[in-house]
Amino acid sequence: MTKHATRSIAVAVTGASGAIYATRTIAAMLERGCHLELVISDYGRRLLRDELGDTAAADKLLDFLVAKYGEGVRQGTFALHSNRDLGAKIASGSQNCEGMVVVPCSMKTLAGIANGLSRNLVERAADVMLKERRPLIIVPRETPMSLPQLRNMVLCAESGAMIMPAMPAFYQMPKTLDDLADFIAGKILAALGFSHELYPSWEG
Ligand SMILES: Cc1cc2nc3c(=O)[nH]c(=O)nc-3n(C[C@H](O)[C@H](O)[C@H](O)COP(=O)(O)O)c2cc1C
Repeated sequence: MTKHATRSIAVAVTGASGAIYATRTIAAMLERGCHLELVISDYGRRLLRDELGDTAAADKLLDFLVAKYGEGVRQGTFALHSNRDLGAKIASGSQNCEGMVVVPCSMKTLAGIANGLSRNLVERAADVMLKERRPLIIVPRETPMSLPQLRNMVLCAESGAMIMPAMPAFYQMPKTLDDLADFIAGKILAALGFSHELYPSWEG
């Protein structure tokens, strides 16, 4: 695995299904020695527990990541912020996070980002990324999608965000849920310029 100099990335986890995409993404960035500014919405916290069990509660996240992904996650660091703290570092354009991912992204948070509402730290930090022209990756999950939801994705894309739906591929012959999560996490890492071996590259 390629070792990168410390990179600072904002990661938001909201209340859409697919908590395992978030934990795999967070773990993979920590394994690469990143510093993460982490925000988990109230429903994001619920999804972590509902889908991964009580050991994945936000306040026990590091222990969960070590148990599931190994000691390598200790190579990185993270600061966990309240979604209500609009005074946190990542609420300002003067912060040094080079990019942000919202994984998974609920339709509610998508709507808030699309319309620049900045009602909470996730929405404000995403708004900062857009106004500062820094990479913002949004991983929406819903099916089927309404016209307002589709339009909100277009609005975000028009503002410069990358829309990366939680749509794992199957050509890499996944055998486990972790294989599916690896695929989405790998796509996110690649979009932020990390090298990775989370899924085999397509050889044609
Ligand atoms: C178990 C569970 C699964 C959910 N899955 C989704 C989902 O896949 N997509 C979505 O947009 N909302 C989903 N929701 C609804 C959102 O969590 C809800 O709209 C919430 O207000 C989102 O708030 P947040 O964006 O601040 O996390 C789910 C809720 C629960 C409890």
